[in-house]
Amino acid sequence: MSSLKNKNILLGITGSIAAYKAGQILRLLGKKEAKVYPIMTEAATHFVHPLTFKALASEEVTYKLFKEERGAEHISLARLADLLLIAPTTANIIGKIAHGIADDILTTTVLAVDCPVVIAPAMNHYMYKNPLVQENIKRLRKFGFKFIGPEEGKLASGEMGPGRISEPFKIVEYVEKVIKSKNDFKGKTFLITAGPTRERLDRVRFISNYSSGKMGYALAEEGIARGAKIILVSGPSSLDPPSNVEFYSIESAEEMRREVKCRFAEMDGVLMAAAVSDYRPLYTEEGKIKKISQEKINLKLIRNQDILKEIGNKKGDKILVGFCAEVENLEDEARIKLKEKNLDLIVANNITLEGAGFGVDTNIVTLIDKKGNIEYLSKMSKREVAEKIWDKIKELMNVQS
Ligand SMILES: Cc1cc2nc3c(=O)[nH]c(=O)nc-3n(C[C@H](O)[C@H](O)[C@H](O)COP(=O)(O)O)c2cc1C
Repeated sequence: MSSLKNKNILLGITGSIAAYKAGQILRLLGKKEAKVYPIMTEAATHFVHPLTFKALASEEVTYKLFKEERGAEHISLARLADLLLIAPTTANIIGKIAHGIADDILTTTVLAVDCPVVIAPAMNHYMYKNPLVQENIKRLRKFGFKFIGPEEGKLASGEMGPGRISEPFKIVEYVEKVIKSKNDFKGKTFLITAGPTRERLDRVRFISNYSSGKMGYALAEEGIARGAKIILVSGPSSLDPPSNVEFYSIESAEEMRREVKCRFAEMDGVLMAAAVSDYRPLYTEEGKIKKISQEKINLKLIRNQDILKEIGNKKGDKILVGFCAEVENLEDEARIKLKEKNLDLIVANNITLEGAGFGVDTNIVTLIDKKGNIEYLSKMSKREVAEKIWDKIKELMNVQS
């Protein structure tokens, strides 16, 4: 049975030259027995008459926010939606959504939905490459909007470049994937660690690292979107905890260890994205360490327990995902850790690469699983990396069961 059968898909159509392709998309969704509700912007009606979609769609076509006969249609449509697909999506609509603007029926509906939103951009390549458009896309990805395309090729203007809307069949395939993945981890509970730890030297000083928590928080957001229950144990971070997670704030590696250990038994899996301090000061001064006349002072450090190794020893059939940030010999180091800690998957990143590692919104990672399968991911947003990691976890769980 098609995963789209009886699913309510809102199909946003915007003022792009590719608006006619929405007709094909609508037909393909219809073939898969989805219920499709076209929502057109005013500009889209200049490209394709609403009557076209009226003839093709099983449901009513909407293109006005204010109507005499019906009330708040953006709300009623939003409430029934299983997914909102915008295909094609103009640069204008991307910009409006990225800034929370809701001044037409489509953008108002976008703000009101509580379902995945898939965006299929279509525009001239200069428009697509414009830094403002790129910045808006980045912002939307960060908030969990899903993108399909655009693709490189010949554009309506005759020029070559990125900006072509993806082929309708690819868009529909992607919609199916997103709908299916909504319940990927329903009934499963995962613990995710994120951020740095702080190891206290005295009342005012600590040893820590540059981790921002962005990768772990992105994993938590994506896990929630796929139906999992998420326990997020985080070191100090300036990020707001994602909604719907059970959140625990910790400071030191030892506090993180305690939290992970006491919750481990109830988990289906643990993703250790935190940058945990390997060492802590042997002594912590109650007050403040005084500046003295000596030029050099010695700091004695003691090893923290390796949380991953500890839980790896008794993991049973739980899924265990580790992360490693390296500056050289990335794959070799990752393989050693994978084995040593009895992990199912390791996410390795070379923090010397631009756009990877601490603090930034993107990452460049390599996934290595316990069978030795290796997947090199290109630079992408941390939310997209999270998507790939959850895809891999799903695959590993399917193999196990
Ligand atoms: C012939 C023509 C083709 C256009 N094609 C596109 C396009 O493919 N992508 C795009 O972002 N804007 C395109 N535009 C510009 C949009 O129609 C314009 O920005 C409009 O305000 C978009 O409205 P909407 O985003 O509310 O649908 C085109 C305009 C014209 C006149």
